[in-house]
Amino acid sequence: MKRVFSGVQPTGNIHIGNYLGALKQFVELQDDHDCIYCIVDLHSITVPQDPKALQKSILDVAALYLAVGVDPKKSTVFVQSQVSGHAELAWILMCNSYTGELSRMTQFKQKNRDRESAPAGLFTYPILMAADILLYDTDVVPVGNDQKQHIELTRDIALRVNNTCGKTFVVPEGRFLKAGARVMSLDDPTSKMSKSNENAHSRISLLDDANKIKKSIMKATTDSEGVVRFDVENKPGVSNLLSIYSAFSGTPIEELEKTYAGSGYGDFKKDLVEVVVSNLAPIQERYKEIRESQELLDILKEGAEKANAIARPVLERVHKRFGLGL
Ligand code: AMP
Ligand code: TRP
Repeated sequence: MKRVFSGVQPTGNIHIGNYLGALKQFVELQDDHDCIYCIVDLHSITVPQDPKALQKSILDVAALYLAVGVDPKKSTVFVQSQVSGHAELAWILMCNSYTGELSRMTQFKQKNRDRESAPAGLFTYPILMAADILLYDTDVVPVGNDQKQHIELTRDIALRVNNTCGKTFVVPEGRFLKAGARVMSLDDPTSKMSKSNENAHSRISLLDDANKIKKSIMKATTDSEGVVRFDVENKPGVSNLLSIYSAFSGTPIEELEKTYAGSGYGDFKKDLVEVVVSNLAPIQERYKEIRESQELLDILKEGAEKANAIARPVLERVHKRFGLGL
């Protein structure tokens, strides 16, 4: 079975972009792959975090993994900082990466736009991500489109080490969905939906109630043409809503265009509210059950043990290749 690895940061507000771009794939893959899903808390401290809020978010995201359908009987679910090999391998990979390639990462450039000096961890963040992936001999990494460049860097590092030290790492591939791979902000459909946007109506969080979802969708930016038509360049807002509708309902976009030919944006948006609310309701119900249960902590503890058992021999292999230790 092919090995799958992916991670989500425990920083509140998990939204439908995270769901459609990443979490939905996690569930699809677990029947015929050996899946490892991680809550990447070490990544989240690249920007300042309130310790109490971080603790809460780790469990929130773990519960959401399970609520969307990640099954701990099939998949390994754990918290990154519980397996020390991630940070350790990151250091070794850092010594085999270049500041030039890190400077080209668009996510770093965006996050660092308004500062004179960045935390070093924000700069080396993609190397920790490479370590996450390479530590488990991963074949496939399901992520949203925004992570493409990081996956490319991971492959470059793996190939570089294999070339200089002899075959050490499995070279992974990214897996991106067509529908939902890049969900855009509802208020500004030219930028991606994000956890950190100050405007809560820019996103739909998985735990939003029906009223909030309705408000956010009804407020969503469209255009003055009044025709429900997919055209990302000229109609980014409507196209984004069509993509979301299609990803949640499974109805192809062309069919949605036909259904809404002749009707205005109002009816289309109302139906979209229904589709989103009815898809999120069962997730929210399961979330409530799981979040407060002891079972959640047991699953994460067992997950860390399983992950550690897979990581250890890979780290030993890496130590040997580099001549580290005894
Ligand atoms: P993050 O919130 O950065 O930890 O992202 C977790 C996962 O969600 C990653 O696989 C991202 O690629 C994916 N993701 C984040 N934002 C979006 C978005 N707006 N559209 C699609 N996928 C996304
Ligand atoms: N960098 C990813 C993001 O922001 C999260 C992440 C960290 C990740 N490590 C990973 C995703 C390993 C896939 C595999 O979305």
